[in-house]
Amino acid sequence: MKILAIDTSCDETSICISDGRKILSNVISSQVELHKKWGGVVPDISRRAHEDNIDQAISEAFKQARIRPADIDYFAATYGPGLAIALEVGLKKAQQMALDNKKPFVPVNHMEGHLLSSFALNSKGTNPTPSDEHLPAIGLLVSGGHTELVLMKNYGEYEILGETLDDAAGEAFDKVSKMLDLGYPGGPIISEFAKKGTSGTYQLPVPMERSGDLNFSYSGLKTACLYKIRDIKEAGSNDKNWVYDFCTDFVNTLIKSLVIKLENAVDSYHPKSILLGGGVMSNVELRRAIRSSMRKRNIPVFQPYSPKLFTDNAAMIAIAAYYNIKYKPENILEGDDISNIDRNPILSLG
Ligand code: KG4
Ligand code: ZN
Repeated sequence: MKILAIDTSCDETSICISDGRKILSNVISSQVELHKKWGGVVPDISRRAHEDNIDQAISEAFKQARIRPADIDYFAATYGPGLAIALEVGLKKAQQMALDNKKPFVPVNHMEGHLLSSFALNSKGTNPTPSDEHLPAIGLLVSGGHTELVLMKNYGEYEILGETLDDAAGEAFDKVSKMLDLGYPGGPIISEFAKKGTSGTYQLPVPMERSGDLNFSYSGLKTACLYKIRDIKEAGSNDKNWVYDFCTDFVNTLIKSLVIKLENAVDSYHPKSILLGGGVMSNVELRRAIRSSMRKRNIPVFQPYSPKLFTDNAAMIAIAAYYNIKYKPENILEGDDISNIDRNPILSLG
């Protein structure tokens, strides 16, 4: 079963061709350089860049997969959540390709993609992935737009156990990076700086530590960082390493908040495995903390075979399409129905 999947939900134009769960090509054309000088994603620039890059990315994906458009059995695209005018570009392209080739179209929820990213097989099909015996699972999805704990009861059956009440964790990384004048996107930069610092210098509040629910919140931590950084700058620290130490304490605090909520969710719902997804999961220390905690509980932790599948990519969209085709045939569109589906910027998994 050959699937062509497209994701243009934010600032990456990504095209994947898969054979079932096996990823044959996963082209990611990043717009980071275009958005850098604005310190964040500018929707209009994003739309134009998707339009400029998408055809080239599609050709490249076919070339790498050694497959022709006529070989594709299903066309898929993200229809939400994400930036409306960015989503539109990939969605319309995939819908048109399905119509032109007289094939079915699979609309995919971007967060289902992040959740199922661990189920992707590399081109040789050799990596370990979760299987039926690992369900129910709990997914911890941490990205620039979302921070969610999702109970996966079965393929296509999800319940959101907790989510952020304000900013997403990735957003906190990006904003704190801006406060420290470190650049965009903040996640990778702060993660690198954090490795060079010593912990315990700056006391930051662990968000929602004792909230009694499974929700997250990062605006308080962000504000605490803003005041702390202002105080440090005003005091004129002689220690040129303070930024490293600050990043270490910020990252540790954020990790603590995520691990506490994951532990609470696991103790309440007793899942058979944990699925990690989203750009912030690129942080090695975060994954180490989660693995260490789950090892004590004897619960296996799954992550995608490549770190490229944590940040936005179309391989995870192909995987979500694959499971929709297999278990949710009612979601597959054919003929005139294909054009009826529109982008949904606030689409949810629940
Ligand atoms: O999943 P993703 O690519 O896009 C969304 O769906 O939002 O996540 C992007 C987020 C950004 O906030 C970025 O700063 C963060 O993931 N990120 C990281 C790292 N790499 C990317 N955060 C922490 N550590 C990293 N190494
Ligand atoms: Zn994403």
